Amino acid sequence: MSRLLCAFVLLLISAACLAQELPTVNFKPVRELPADIPTCREGDLNINECIRQGLQQITPRMKYGISELNIPPLDPFEMGKSSYNYNSGLLQGRIAMKNVVVHGLSEGIVDKVNFRLKNRQVRMEILSHVPQMFVEGAYKADIKLNDLKLNPKGTFNVTMTNVTMRARPIGELYDNDGHTYLRLNKLETEPKIGDLRFYANGLVPDPALNDVILDFINQYWRQLYESMLPETLATWQPLILKSSNDFFAALPFDMLLTKN
Ligand SMILES: *[C@@H]1O[C@H](CO)[C@@H](O)[C@H](O)[C@H]1NC(C)=O
Ligand SMILES: *[C@@H]1O[C@H](CO)[C@@H](O)[C@H](O)[C@H]1NC(C)=O
Repeated sequence: MSRLLCAFVLLLISAACLAQELPTVNFKPVRELPADIPTCREGDLNINECIRQGLQQITPRMKYGISELNIPPLDPFEMGKSSYNYNSGLLQGRIAMKNVVVHGLSEGIVDKVNFRLKNRQVRMEILSHVPQMFVEGAYKADIKLNDLKLNPKGTFNVTMTNVTMRARPIGELYDNDGHTYLRLNKLETEPKIGDLRFYANGLVPDPALNDVILDFINQYWRQLYESMLPETLATWQPLILKSSNDFFAALPFDMLLTKN
């Protein structure tokens, strides 16, 4: 029984982490910054603090998005549809999710920024945390484990507290049309979750057994999360890198970080 639970839970959580698409944004070239967007100066001795404050000022505005900068509303953040196939011999399955919505991103706190610019190479480290995040959605799965077939279907939600993130973007500056732009080559992220509470209905037809499975997930979420994290990051990081580069290709970097 616990092997089955384990396999099942792993499949569910991995699917939740591996939503494989981001909403598409139409990135329009930015000709000038709105007056209320904070900027920093390249030679500022306190540039790290300037960037930190700037990011912090922008964060609450993620709620409604900043259309002038091609930032869509991010709180709630609607992830749309996704599906994920799992095939490991013993366990085969497919899980589809829809109406997945993430709440809380606009409450983020930017704790620390470390910015380096040398020979047009940019290296940054950004530490931030979100006090509470709430994710909800609907799921549907077809799972085959040996001869056993399962078709769970229902809604789920996850409450996470103290979600910390260490992000390390690395990139280079290039010139185009009389402006300087930033292209990221690499974006490492290290998310950590303080605590997590998971609910779902429909995992199994019997509500009592459903609760047993939930207890199991909530007891072992950290192990499950850690076993899924590498694959999840491998899926997400290229998507986030691409979105970041689309964003920076439309917004000249010398508007955000002005020359002296
Ligand atoms: C999360 O889901 C559970 C079970 O479906 C439900 O009882 C609970 O109200 C939901 N939590 C929130 C905050 O909506
Ligand atoms: C949040 O997590 C970070 C890193 O894991 C930790 O240093 C910090 O003390 C935590 N904060 C709270 C309020 O639990």
